[in-house]
Parts: sequence; structure tokens; C-alpha cells
Amino acid sequence: MHTYLFPGRVRIGPGVVATAGEQAIALGGRHAFIVADPGIVAAGLLDPVTQALQRAGVAFTVDQGVVPNPDTESVDRMTAAYRASGADLIIGLGGGSALDTAKAVRLAAGGPDGVSIWDYAYLRGDDARPAPPRAACPPLIAIPTTAGTGAEATPWAVLTHRQRRHKYGVGADHLIPDLALLDPELTLGLPAWLTAATGIDALSHLIEAYVSTRRHPLLDPLIRHGVALIGRHLRSAVLRGDDLPARQAMMEAALLGGIAITANWLGACHSLAHQLSSFADVHHGVAIALMLPHQMAFSLPAALERYAEIGEALAPRRRPAATLRGRAEHAVTAVRELIADIGLPTHLGAVGVGADLIPAMAASAYENDLNWTTNPRRVTQADLLRMYEQALDAPKAVKET
Ligand SMILES: [Fe+2]
Repeated sequence: MHTYLFPGRVRIGPGVVATAGEQAIALGGRHAFIVADPGIVAAGLLDPVTQALQRAGVAFTVDQGVVPNPDTESVDRMTAAYRASGADLIIGLGGGSALDTAKAVRLAAGGPDGVSIWDYAYLRGDDARPAPPRAACPPLIAIPTTAGTGAEATPWAVLTHRQRRHKYGVGADHLIPDLALLDPELTLGLPAWLTAATGIDALSHLIEAYVSTRRHPLLDPLIRHGVALIGRHLRSAVLRGDDLPARQAMMEAALLGGIAITANWLGACHSLAHQLSSFADVHHGVAIALMLPHQMAFSLPAALERYAEIGEALAPRRRPAATLRGRAEHAVTAVRELIADIGLPTHLGAVGVGADLIPAMAASAYENDLNWTTNPRRVTQADLLRMYEQALDAPKAVKET
């Protein structure tokens, strides 16, 4: 048995954000509560949204309280602000942090007043409060300004418990946004490093989902298409930021990544990366870039054919390697080359993480972050520790077979 959960309405294309007002009305909204990333507001990206709302006669309240790696406190504070505003619809505007915050506020806003989002955390197990019913939650429009997390298509949000240094998830099937407006023009001014980091996050979603033990063939062509889009367009999106077709292709790839992980889940790369964020505040996409090649190399013997197909989609070669193993290893090499080409760090030292943090991160990844449970090759805590150790030093050149 397999469950597929596809996103709500998705509108994609240059300028599509101008339809935000009429779309809000179609969802029954009269007053939008905009959960915005302050950097995005400073970059002028709020203006097309508020102008669209004004044209349609939709009132709005803007809250710029989104923090990187969103936490319990910011979500609880914004939930109270949503209630006080009198709004009847939520718009998330920004990168993954803004969209996850908006989704979490939506969930908490559908529950009783004064209940913290932490009460809904999956990792509380039987103690977790069930998500409020769909009808109780306000409608949600997601307007991503990066092409990476795929949060516009997933039914959960990832939050941080600061004191415990835990990443935790909240969610429910109906927390997939009702509408996603994917406007590549909003990503034209995205800094190169952020384009790179978010793009690699999208790639990791596609790859981890493709080799996951929960995989199912229905999504295979979509995932391979997403990987191919990234192979063809991420370099240009990073190195020539005004390449609009490349920007749109990356938004499509990120969307496909969100659909893929909703059905197939992730793998150990995300368990490893999440600790780098909660222990050392490393950006999620940068953390992914640091760990993905190591997790792929570790997992490769358990899924040779799947990795070979990834390599073929990401960087097709005129003369593929003669052996299946060689074709699978090409996937790892192609990912390493892509990460290096787009200028992301390739070892932990480059982000100031030393060996001292590794034992605690490995323990936390194993105990608190269950993404590794669907890794194609079974992992132990010692395996996770070894993958961090391998990421410590700058990689040596790899010779392809
Ligand atoms: Fe991710």
C-alpha cells in the first residue's frame, strides 16, 4: 500500500504573484495575515503581494517575525498576532523558514487559544496533540521566494526547540497549502549562494526520495525529470541570476522535490544536516551540500541501480561507465562537481564545525531525527558518526570509472 498526497492548486509562471488578491478571495479570504521573511520585505518582494491584495480589496496585516530555522517561540508569538489581527487567511512569503512558519501558524490557529505549537510535535509521540480539523484551520497561500524546500507541496513544517536543540515536525495531510503561487520573477534577485544552497536542498529531496525504502514507481519519472532540470539549470540560475527560464525550471524542480518527499520521505542526509543546523546554525541547504555526497557514497551499494539512474538524469554521459557500479558512482561524482561549481562549501571546517561536535550530533541524529529510517542502506549511530568524520576534511579529487 502506498499513499500519495499531491499539492493543492499550483499556479506557476512569471508574474503569477499579481493574482494573489483574486486567489485570496476565491479561498474566502477578506483579510490576509502575511507571514514574511524580513529579508524578503527589505528586498522589495512584499510589494507585488500587497499591491495585488489592494487591487482586489483584500485587507492585510504583515508580520515580519520569521526567523531562520523557525522555532517554537516565533510560531507561538505569530499565532497570537494572527488571532489579534482579525485576519481570516494566511499568506506565507519567503523561503522555507517563512513557509514553515506560516504552515505552523495555520495549524496552531486552528486549535484552542494559548496552546503552543510544541504540543503538536510529532516527536512527543502519544503526548502529541492531534492536529485540528481542516475546517478549523484558516486557508493558506504559499508564495516561495526560493526554489528549494518544496514546502509549498508538503504537509508538514520543521521547527526547532532551542533549549533541547531538537528539530521537530508538525503537520497533517490538510496542511499542504491550498494554493502555491510559484513566480520565478521573485527569485531573480536571490543571492548566488542562497540560490545554490536551496537548489541543492531540492536536489537532495529528489535523490533521497528516489532511493528511499518507501519509494514507489508512480513518482519515478517525475523525480528523474526534477533531477534533470537541476542538472541542466542550477549552474545557470546561480552563475547568471537573471536567467528566468533557469529560475522557473528550479521552481519546478523544487515543487517536484516536495511532492516526492511527501510520498517517499527522506533519508540519512537530512538526519545529518538537521544537526548541523540545530548545533551550529548552518543554513539547511549548506548543511545538505556538506553531507549529501557522503550519505550517497555510504548508501550506494544498497541501491546501485537507483543511483545509476540518478547519475544518468543529472549528468548524462555520451559513454556511460561499463559497470552498474561505475554508473552509480557517477551520480556521486556529478553531485560533488555540481556542489563545487556553484561555490558551496565542501567540508565541515569551511563552516566552522570541528570534530568536537560530532559525537553529540551523531547521537542526536540517531535518536531524534528519524529521516534515516528510510535510508536505502540501514544506518547505525556509528555510521552517522563516520559520515560526519568523512565530511571534516576537504575532499580529494575523485577519479571516475
Ligand atoms: Fe531539505
